[in-house]
Amino acid sequence: MESIKKLRLGVNIDHVATVRNARGSAYPDPVRAAIIAQEAGADGITAHLREDRRHIVDQDIVSIIKAINIPLNFEMAATEEMQKIALAHEPYAVCIVPEKREERTTEGGLDVVKEEKKLAHFITPLRDKGSRVSIFIAADENQIKAASRIGAQVVELHTGAYCDLHYEKSFEEKEAELTRLKDMAALAHSLGLEVHAGHGLTYETVTPIAELPEVVELNIGHFLIGESIFSGLKEAILKMRELMDKARL
Ligand code: PXP
Repeated sequence: MESIKKLRLGVNIDHVATVRNARGSAYPDPVRAAIIAQEAGADGITAHLREDRRHIVDQDIVSIIKAINIPLNFEMAATEEMQKIALAHEPYAVCIVPEKREERTTEGGLDVVKEEKKLAHFITPLRDKGSRVSIFIAADENQIKAASRIGAQVVELHTGAYCDLHYEKSFEEKEAELTRLKDMAALAHSLGLEVHAGHGLTYETVTPIAELPEVVELNIGHFLIGESIFSGLKEAILKMRELMDKARL
């Protein structure tokens, strides 16, 4: 295999906006979090504009793009509305995620197999505008092959099940899920897809994922924002970065 690339860290700042929106206040400001993440060495900022705007809102996307000089990874559902917004902003990257993800966590990510034609159609203009298109999927052979067929450049493997199993102390099942992630990262790489991973990662769970040689980017949010209550955001990111770098040695 070609030399192992440095592992990038995308910091997801959605949950700063969750706290802000809980009170309908102007703070805490996700843009400020994005700037701190950039200063702490994040390689990108990830923000998910949900259809119900429960955390990030449209103006946040505008402000974040203006404020940062690292790439924005714009997470979005495969809807016409979101496509329009992405085409208007031309973010460095878009990551297509399930529309009703909370109902599908057990299944993992997007069902590309089921929606292959629609998704192929959907991502073409985004690619044409220069955004790098990533598809958030479970570590599943058929989903990866379908993502490759529709012309995605990247697959982001859903690590949520692996993280849940870790905290449920289902260690045998966790190992099985890790093996699946490892095999599927290798498959995706062999098909020419760039491999990312994310969801639910913490200090305790990040190392085995960061060790997967084909994975070049992790996107981490909820844990980092939660941890920043205790250590500050910069410290939380630096510690995660350190664990990722150590895993890569
Ligand atoms: N990757 C994708 C595609 C996601 O949707 C999310 C959550 O928004 C993450 C990574 C980050 O997950 P977490 O917030 O659990 O770290």
